[in-house]
Amino acid sequence: MNNKDNSTQVSKDGFEHYMLKEIYEQPKVVKNILENREEIYNSNFSKEELEQIDKIYIVACGTALHAGQNGKFALEMLTGIPVITDIASEFRYNDVFIDEKTLLIVISQSGETADTIGALEKGIRYKAKTLSITNVMDSTIANMTEKSMFCNAGPEISIASTKAYMAQLTVLFLLSLDIALKLKAIDTQTFDKVLASLKEIPEKINIVLKDLTAYKEIAKELKEVNSMFYIGRGSDFITAKEGSLKLKETSYIHSEPFPAGELKHGTMAIIDETSKIIAVAAQSGLDAKTTVNVSELKDKGAKVFSIGTEENEVLKNNSDITILIPKTIDLLVPMLAVVPEQLIAYYTALAKGNDVDHPRNLTKSVISE
Ligand code: G6P
Repeated sequence: MNNKDNSTQVSKDGFEHYMLKEIYEQPKVVKNILENREEIYNSNFSKEELEQIDKIYIVACGTALHAGQNGKFALEMLTGIPVITDIASEFRYNDVFIDEKTLLIVISQSGETADTIGALEKGIRYKAKTLSITNVMDSTIANMTEKSMFCNAGPEISIASTKAYMAQLTVLFLLSLDIALKLKAIDTQTFDKVLASLKEIPEKINIVLKDLTAYKEIAKELKEVNSMFYIGRGSDFITAKEGSLKLKETSYIHSEPFPAGELKHGTMAIIDETSKIIAVAAQSGLDAKTTVNVSELKDKGAKVFSIGTEENEVLKNNSDITILIPKTIDLLVPMLAVVPEQLIAYYTALAKGNDVDHPRNLTKSVISE
């Protein structure tokens, strides 16, 4: 399936924009991948091949890189293999530590991104084992790698990627489980427990999609600002980066993501009563620390909009608006926490009268370096 320019053939299914339609397709996308998960396992390297691996590189651009950075958490936690993530356009020119014992995973919605292709060529030259995760089966990248996994999210028309990101996360979590089980880094009980939690994700995304009031309210506040911040820790920071990118792409608002603990090392100097921040504090192990940062931001007069779980009363009390997402295991939090960010970006762009599906200066597939 080639989705380079087929916007005219794909229906909006009654939605005003492709972006909103694709956000709402996410529960179905996850469910579909889970139902066909044997395809992912069968596309993976064998136990014997995986036993030769001593490190993993994940290389991609844009949103696909953020999926990969979440994949790093899953792979390291479940398999114990060290994972290095890199931006494709940097990886190409950086010193790398790659040999035949390295698994190079490249992620690309389109399968055609020039820098990701360049990075893959370098990995092949260094004799890495190669695996791709793409949303286009017959793409250049899928055809170049030894193993290729297909996201099967359907054509993504909106330039701002949403459902492809969700699909990439799902594939990465299944891949991590499969590698971990093959290498006996986890037992079948752990495997089943994570899989059971994954199966609950589609219904939990539906809950996040139900009431749009808070997203629209935040959008009303954000449409007036020129600059803002996102904060988070651990995978909440990766979610913050993805939310920040989504907002920039669609609303043209300057936005910077920070690891919450880094705020004090400089950025706090520019926080005042005009500042607006989105804080992601959704992982049970780290949300208490981010919540402290939220209180500090409030003390400086900033407006804080938070994404957390129902259990965090302190976060609720310290935030101007709190979006509560359903509880899941920490590993899978990125699949739920990103959805409010996608909707905030969508409604902010809408409030500003921007061309939501075709933001200025951007293309769906970047085929030049
Ligand atoms: C462009 C798109 C982004 C995408 C990035 C990587 O910048 O606008 O949405 O994340 O390229 O694209 P890929 O097709 O490799 O995932």
